[in-house]
Amino acid sequence: MPLIYIKGDITKMTVDAIVNAANSSLLGGGGVDGAIHRAAGEELLFECRLLGGCKTGQAEITKGYKLPAKHIIHTVGPVWRGGDNGERELLYSCYKNSLALAKENGCESVAFPLISSGIYGYPKDKAMQVAVDAIKEFLRDNDMLVYIVLFGDNALRLDDRLYSGVDSFIKQTYSPPLSAFAGASDNAAAQPMFGKAGGLFHLKKSALKKAPVEREVAAAAAAATVFKQEIIEDAECEPPESLDERLKYLDESFSQMLLRLIDEKGMTDAECYKKANIDRKLFSKIRSDINYHPKKPTAVAFAIALELPMPQARELIEKAGYSLTHTNKFDIIIEYFITNGRYDVFEINEALFAFDQVLIA
Ligand code: APR
Repeated sequence: MPLIYIKGDITKMTVDAIVNAANSSLLGGGGVDGAIHRAAGEELLFECRLLGGCKTGQAEITKGYKLPAKHIIHTVGPVWRGGDNGERELLYSCYKNSLALAKENGCESVAFPLISSGIYGYPKDKAMQVAVDAIKEFLRDNDMLVYIVLFGDNALRLDDRLYSGVDSFIKQTYSPPLSAFAGASDNAAAQPMFGKAGGLFHLKKSALKKAPVEREVAAAAAAATVFKQEIIEDAECEPPESLDERLKYLDESFSQMLLRLIDEKGMTDAECYKKANIDRKLFSKIRSDINYHPKKPTAVAFAIALELPMPQARELIEKAGYSLTHTNKFDIIIEYFITNGRYDVFEINEALFAFDQVLIA
């Protein structure tokens, strides 16, 4: 994962460089600037004095001193004045110049705070968008591990519309784990189950209304017959897009299916793994070992990068040994974005982060 969002205190990060949201004097201040100067010790101030200040949007580098990080990159973000005074361009150049300086100094890992989103008043969701845009642009042509360190509880505000869209989808889709299935109350939501052919079917509420034993029988019958496409009257099955097609690749491994789909989509390997927010080393492991089993977030990230429709996304994820169900928020959030045709791994990670879920890739 070349770009990772985490909650925490940037002064504790063991990376090659942390970035300081400084002011133009570079002589310390409040917020993260104050925290970094306190943690680094007074030698930092002596070195900063020699720099003679820094312009908004520019960046300077010093040693890390008592910090676990080797270097500190000081950059000065814009003060938010409503958004029509070039704030976005200046903030974008803070990230761009800091990353360039990190690369020049051989850094392989960098941690950013959300620059300008504190005392300088930049709205957090807009500040996050600029940060992600600038870091994504840099990672298109460079390999580096980049953290965005979010501080405090209201660290990240997801765009309100997106948040409510995901939240209501979770509320209407979530259903108790299968173990609760037999005793499920009559008004339980439809329970997704997988038939042998991987076809997903839902037992409608009417099927759930039967007595627990009957429900189990109904579920078993549906599972047993979905392969022959004869399903019990209350079950619905998403017919596989083409059974012959699916049968042809039935014993394909995850790695083989991934590489086939990259070719079919006309993508290069690099385009795919960068879009998936996967680093080159992990991709080359998957490419060289046809039996490689990635972690679930990695398998999901590739399904997103390939912009697969839901049935094919499930199929690719199943090849890695996992499934997407309605029994956990992570899976439901992934389904929300795929069914809404939103295939931006970074936007999905912001939503997963906002709902306290593991991130993909
Ligand atoms: N670790 C990570 N992030 C932190 C930490 C920390 N220890 N402390 C604060 N932050 C976060 C804030 O929550 C905010 O999201 O850093 C982000 C930037 O906030 P500020 O530090 O206030 O920086 P900024 O908004 O860019 O204002 C810069 O504030 O500290 C002064 O001298 C600095 O004058 C300059 C101005």
